[in-house]
Amino acid sequence: MNDLFLKACKRADVERTPVWMMRQAGRYLPEYRAIRAKADFKTMCKTPELASEVTLQPVDLVGVDAAIIFSDILVIPDAMGVHFEMVESKGPTFANPIRTREQIHDLPIADPEKSLKYVMDALSMTKRALNRRVPLIGFSGSPWTLATYMIEGSGSKDFKYTKQMMLNDPEGLKELLDKLSKSVRLYLEAQLAAGADAVQIFDTWGGTLAPDYYRRFSLDYMFNIVSTMHRDGSPVIVFSKGANHSLREIAEIGADVVGVDWTIDMADARYKIGERVAIQGNMDPSFLYGSPSKIREEVKSILRKFGKGTGHVFNLGHGIFPDVPVDHAKEFVRAVKEESPAFH
Ligand code: CP3
Repeated sequence: MNDLFLKACKRADVERTPVWMMRQAGRYLPEYRAIRAKADFKTMCKTPELASEVTLQPVDLVGVDAAIIFSDILVIPDAMGVHFEMVESKGPTFANPIRTREQIHDLPIADPEKSLKYVMDALSMTKRALNRRVPLIGFSGSPWTLATYMIEGSGSKDFKYTKQMMLNDPEGLKELLDKLSKSVRLYLEAQLAAGADAVQIFDTWGGTLAPDYYRRFSLDYMFNIVSTMHRDGSPVIVFSKGANHSLREIAEIGADVVGVDWTIDMADARYKIGERVAIQGNMDPSFLYGSPSKIREEVKSILRKFGKGTGHVFNLGHGIFPDVPVDHAKEFVRAVKEESPAFH
């Protein structure tokens, strides 16, 4: 198997830097859009054959060093009875957002072997289809990020309702975050058992909190998950977008890899994190709108800033945009493969 990704997560020696892209199974690929034209987003998530097929597309077409299972972070709220619809050009929308203590009391812990069985089926099917070509990544949203969607009822700019709850009913919010933490831990464990080789926690909205609130309402819950989950050495990646103020603290929670967005210089990230854990990132995803030569130049610059040695998983600093040219994504991956051996 091409296990460069797993080796780099563990900071073992590699001959070149592995690379994959967040949201790599998605709309920039015409082959994804062809399947999406026939099935809505949720149906794709819940049909293992379709989820598996689009998971393999970036491996076959773009040459990434890891597959990430096609799904969504919002399958956990859905499994807890808080259902969403993916509304065209608006994003996820919940009919009944969580705003009261009573609603929180009534929420069940998600049972991954029952209400999320379709994800496990997609993982085992994909694992078989990959036939050990590259490792398979499972994932979950962080408790905080999932809570923001459940409370706001959709994407948000100000996170008003979530922050109101944090200020006016912190105990209620903590009860919700506790239930989500248990659900996330069980879900990640089940994904590893079903065939995932590593898991990533996406804390997309951790960076909307002031640093001490980030630590109390997001990082602490991820620490609980990482420190209690059964994973038999499988790597865990934690990615808190916009939380570069707390990189040292994030590196201490017991994860193997810390994901960083593009608003920190890679040299600075490595300096702050040191040799404790591996680093994933961090090209600005909008750079894929640039020319192939500009993309290669930026890849080289990030490799140089990371410096010599292992412990780097190359990625974008956030998800790939749906309208970047496929050739630019290919050039990004090729550039990492061709330019990184010089650093090992
Ligand atoms: O990385 C991968 O390729 C695996 C699949 C994946 C998806 N969503 C597929 C998807 C992953 C890892 C996610 C995670 C996810 N989902 C996050 C965290 C990561 C991040 O990007 O910050 C969040 C916040 C969500 C919630 C969500 N799902 C949003 C806000 C949207 C965007 C809506 C839009 O129209 O832009 C989605 C939809 C979604 N998830 C798509 C895909 C491929 C596009 C849906 C489509 O095909 O119409």
